[in-house]
Amino acid sequence: MSQDFERAKADFDQTKSGVKGILDSGVSKIPSIFIHPPESLQKYPCHGTSSLDLQVPVIDLNDLEGGKEVKVGQIREASEQWGIFQLVNHGIPVSVLDEMLEGGVRGFHEQPSEVKMKWYSRAYEQQVRFYSNGVLYEAHPICWRDSISCHYADGELDPNALPPVSRRAIQNYMEKILNLKVTLAGLLSEALGLNPNYLESIDCMKTATLVCQYYPPCPEPDLTLGVPRHSDPSFITILLQDSLGGLQVLKGSQWVDVKPIKGAIIVNIGDHLQLMSNDKFKSVEHRVLAAPVGPRLSAACFFYPRTANYSKPYGPIKELVSEEAGPVYREVAHNEYMSCYRFKGGANGNSALPFFKL
Ligand code: OGA
Ligand code: NI
Repeated sequence: MSQDFERAKADFDQTKSGVKGILDSGVSKIPSIFIHPPESLQKYPCHGTSSLDLQVPVIDLNDLEGGKEVKVGQIREASEQWGIFQLVNHGIPVSVLDEMLEGGVRGFHEQPSEVKMKWYSRAYEQQVRFYSNGVLYEAHPICWRDSISCHYADGELDPNALPPVSRRAIQNYMEKILNLKVTLAGLLSEALGLNPNYLESIDCMKTATLVCQYYPPCPEPDLTLGVPRHSDPSFITILLQDSLGGLQVLKGSQWVDVKPIKGAIIVNIGDHLQLMSNDKFKSVEHRVLAAPVGPRLSAACFFYPRTANYSKPYGPIKELVSEEAGPVYREVAHNEYMSCYRFKGGANGNSALPFFKL
């Protein structure tokens, strides 16, 4: 990477004002550190879903008790074929979701720069921090979004550690999301043909990192991305998006829009659950397009093991490994997975899964 790019990134970092700061300064062209090559921007073979009629599965959790077998079957099929699904009637009030996006995400990012800057940090160990491009120095090019991350070690975070403007919204939202995660762990366990308590009992999803994403409108949306193509290094991710759209998943060679549905929650399988399921479930590749309008708001909650288990290996679940074919991957601990992801190309969208293939 050229020295000019390095310097431009360092200068951008030092503003502590993120992409929104660039936009607020009144630019009509995006800085070159944000320009992606045409192949990353490609809408291949065609953009949108209409021609092939593909749609990310939508699962209605209403009547869970009555039709549990049916729901489990739908979750199994969606996790195998798509690695992503949208949940409706999941029991979280729309008001909690709206307040999360407005008060939690917009509220933080649209407060005065001087207040926001105090939260700016690149230190992974800081529980709550504001930054733009988590992998600013490793990735090239970088993306059109700003973030705040809130780390719930073992599912807990002192509310006083949250930014005052977002505190209530995030607290209310996370209380519901941590409960929904337990329900999902049960359904996913059953979808894998395991005891409903299986995934909860092995503590592989006890820690949560909530990332509140803010995608400012972009003056040259065809030259950059909100998030580049990647799969999540989590076990599962629970995502809330607003009504603007822009999230796409790769299905075969087709980018499919994840259509915004009012009140819906998106769930996607992460790399580590793909590994544990011995490739039965798929960690879906996805990206977010930049748009001329916005801001687009989202909240992504990534689930990881209990902190005491960060060094504990999690491998293919033995019930899912057939005697003839054997395991596809070796066991790997969360820490090892993350360092491989960070240093072997995760910043540029490469999954770390192939490194653990047997
Ligand atoms: C992510 C991600 C999607 C979104 O943060 O990993 O894919 O809609 N986000 O913000
Ligand atoms: Ni993602």
